[in-house]
Amino acid sequence: MKVAEVWQQFEKKLSGQKELKDLEVLRIEFLGRKGKVNQLLQKITQLSPEKRREFGQEVNQLKRRIEAAIERKKQELRTDLENNLSKEKLDVTLPGQEPNLGHLHPITQMKWEIADIFQRMGFEVLEPLEVNSDYANFEALNIPPDHPARDMWDTFWTREGHLPITHTSSMQNWIYRNRKPPIRAVVIGRCFRNEATDAGHEHTFHQIEGVYVDRGITVAHLIETMRVFFSEFYGRELKTKVRPSYFPFVEPGLELAIECVLCRGKGCSVCKQSGWLEILGCGQIHPSVLKEGGIDPKKHTGFAWGIGLERIIMLRYGIEDIRHFHSGDLRFIRKFK
Ligand code: DAH
Repeated sequence: MKVAEVWQQFEKKLSGQKELKDLEVLRIEFLGRKGKVNQLLQKITQLSPEKRREFGQEVNQLKRRIEAAIERKKQELRTDLENNLSKEKLDVTLPGQEPNLGHLHPITQMKWEIADIFQRMGFEVLEPLEVNSDYANFEALNIPPDHPARDMWDTFWTREGHLPITHTSSMQNWIYRNRKPPIRAVVIGRCFRNEATDAGHEHTFHQIEGVYVDRGITVAHLIETMRVFFSEFYGRELKTKVRPSYFPFVEPGLELAIECVLCRGKGCSVCKQSGWLEILGCGQIHPSVLKEGGIDPKKHTGFAWGIGLERIIMLRYGIEDIRHFHSGDLRFIRKFK
């Protein structure tokens, strides 16, 4: 092979090079110890002494041209690489995009918060059976089958005569039978009523039932327990007041009101200018109810209450329609992120 041919071959191969690392392979192929240029040089022995010098110079020149061409190509590829890199560069200082993760439903958040408050006050927190017996929901609470007070709860029934609980009081009897005084328990869970829905009523809603049974428990303990809870929940000291009411499972039965959380007792449209919000039913547990639970009412007394969970959340956030909670409308749900 002649010097010119080796050069041609080299040039052809060089023009097809795209990668820096392949350039090194090419260099070895031509300039390496056993490379094409050295192979060419070995032919020098076949030449007459007078031609050797000229041939030697030619080969050396070829070597330098190849070296220079590789160097140029290297520079070229390097600048290409740099250009591409700067085009594709990521700006790691740009602020990230917040991932669209889910979060807990407002009802769940509030349930946990309320459970936490009562736990700090020494109460055990339970969940109700969502379907229970006539006995648990009514009879054990001093409401026999034909008692007119049953009309207070629009009840769904299963074919077998069970029912989706109409209130979390349905857990009272279980609690009395499975715990020993002092009993401090709170039940937070879903209730169901067969009634038309409007801004203030849902067929599915939540209640917080509470019971406290021990020696010498009075209405004074009840009122103070509620005052502490509501002051914690609404984040400031609130006044309370009670007035007589009727529920078959308490005697006396009471309705407890708190100072309006929106106008702070001054009077507004939510509290109908009264400054007070009637917020829950409560009372001293009826002796028959304690007895039915295996507790001797001569030794122990107690109080119970039932709070509508959605109602107290609505007052805290100024929500005007209870149906938002189960609407599945993400614009509402996401406000509680
Ligand atoms: N269970 C009642 C209801 O759903 C609320 C209630 C009232 C619960 C008085 C009580 C209570 O524990 O003492 O309407």
